[in-house]
Formats: sequence, C-alpha cells, structure tokens
Amino acid sequence: MSKEKEFDNKTSSGRKISRRNAIKYAGVTAGGALVTYLGMKYYTGQNDSTATMPLANEADANLITYQNKTNMKVLLLNGSPHKKGCTYTALSEVGVALEQNGIESKLSWLGMESISGCRGCGSCRSTGKCIIEDNVNVLLEKVNTYDGFVFGSPVHYAGASGFITPFLDRLFYAGGSRFAGKPGAAIVSCRRAGSTAALEQLNKYITISNMPLVSSQYWNMVHGNTPDEVRRDLEGMQTMRALGQNMAWIVKCIAAGKAAGIEPPTYEQRTATNFIR
Ligand SMILES: Cc1cc2nc3c(=O)[nH]c(=O)nc-3n(C[C@H](O)[C@H](O)[C@H](O)COP(=O)(O)O)c2cc1C
Repeated sequence: MSKEKEFDNKTSSGRKISRRNAIKYAGVTAGGALVTYLGMKYYTGQNDSTATMPLANEADANLITYQNKTNMKVLLLNGSPHKKGCTYTALSEVGVALEQNGIESKLSWLGMESISGCRGCGSCRSTGKCIIEDNVNVLLEKVNTYDGFVFGSPVHYAGASGFITPFLDRLFYAGGSRFAGKPGAAIVSCRRAGSTAALEQLNKYITISNMPLVSSQYWNMVHGNTPDEVRRDLEGMQTMRALGQNMAWIVKCIAAGKAAGIEPPTYEQRTATNFIR
C-alpha cells in the first residue's frame, strides 16, 4: 500500500477511520503541522544560543528578544524545569503577540538548579536585597528596566513549581514595592487539573504589589504534557495571544498616561495590623 493510501484510511496510531474523517484528519494534521512549523521557525529564528541561560549568566538570559518598536519591554519568566517545554511554548505565544503589538519581550528561564526558599530573616528590609545571592538579586536590580511581567509555571500538584515559588517569594518579599504600577500576569501549563489553583497562587504576588493584573479571554492556562500537545490546545494558545495583546495594550496605556501627566498613585504609609491589634 502506498503511503498516501495508507494515510487515506488510518490515523498515525493505526486506527481505521472513514474516508470522510480521513480527509478531515488530514486537514487538521496539515494545519497543525503548519502551525508547528511556523512556531518552530519563530523560535529557532531568534538568538537561541543564549536560550537556556539562567538569569545569573545574563547576556541577558534571553531565550528570545523580539524586535523593539516602542522601547518597552516585558519579562516572560519561565519557572519550569523544562527549558523548552509546555510553559515555554505558552510564554512564547505571549511573546509573539507582544511583538506583533510593538512590545519587546525577554523570555528568561529560571534553570534547574534548586532555588532556596525565603529564610524569613528580614535582612531585605534594610538592604533592599535578598541575603541569598542568586538570580533573585539579579532580577531585583533589573525590575525597573521592564514595563510588565508574565510569570509562567507548570502545574505541580495543583500548585506552581518548586522553582518559581521560592523565587517569587524572595523576589517579592525583598522588592515587591518595585513592581508597583507595572502590569503583571501569570500563566500556567498542566496536563489536566490544578491549573486554577496554581494560577491563583501566582496571581497573589501580583495582586499584593499594586500591579495591574492583566487578564485574557479565558483563565491563563494551556493544557498538555508536551509542547506539541500545548500547540494543539488551540483555545489555550489563543488565550496566550489575547493575553499578549492585552499586556501590550495596558503597557502602552500606562506609558501614554504618564506622557499625559497622569502619575501613578502616591500610597499611604503601609499599615500592618497582624490581626492582633
Ligand atoms: C511533579 C509534577 C507534578 C505535576 N502535577 C500536575 C498536576 O497537579 N496537574 C496536572 O494537570 N499536571 C501535573 N503535572 C504535569 C505538568 O503540569 C504538565 O506536563 C506541564 O504542562 C509541564 O510543563 P513544562 O513542560 O513547562 O514543565 C505535573 C508534573 C510534574 C513533573
């Protein structure tokens, strides 16, 4: 049987299907392959040699640096142990939409070295940096160079990963006030469930820091165990693109507001009551 003939009546798993469904299947497969090809072309066309560097090795830890048309930049932080896995795939889609809307983005991978949790020593209160010298401090010094942030994580046991959780704990404990006024979003990738809990967890850093929370047309999640499965989650990928569009829009609106003399709020001295007074 010729290859074409074989493809005519079987899926790749060998399951027999009707001629009509075979035509449908062929169309979907070809469409998926095109999307995959275009996506891969996009990734590999960029500065991929620095693709996997964690923040400390900055030159500048970027997987992808998209064209800069507005001088504004959004950091896409990948908290997955997989440097080019599902979370990367979703964040890249956000990056493409940002780029299409004139906003540069930098996709940084936290790496696979274990990241220390917050010691709760409080030294950051006086020093403005974390006592543990690692990428948290590297990023803390660069917060001002970004106009927006997207935190991405795979779902691990219905929560964010063991990489991004301690990283963001320490980043925000030491320098949460530096993020005020900068729009933020979180995205998660999961095989099946726990996505809303993980998303909620990541959104907490944003919503305690006077950061405008940027949303999409659905909750910011993709489904899949592999990048290819994620690319086939058409709704998830569309959600990522809409998030990128919204992020670009908000970033530009904030810049336009500033240019028109609309200053960010001056906040009151913070009161912490600890529920005992
Ligand atoms: C330790 C661990 C725990 C996981 N827990 C969940 C889970 O609770 N729910 C789920 O749907 N997927 C779970 N998964 C699957 C991943 O979330 C999923 O494959 C994700 O898309 C991987 O993204 P990545 O390639 O960026 O790492 C888990 C994977 C690992 C390694």
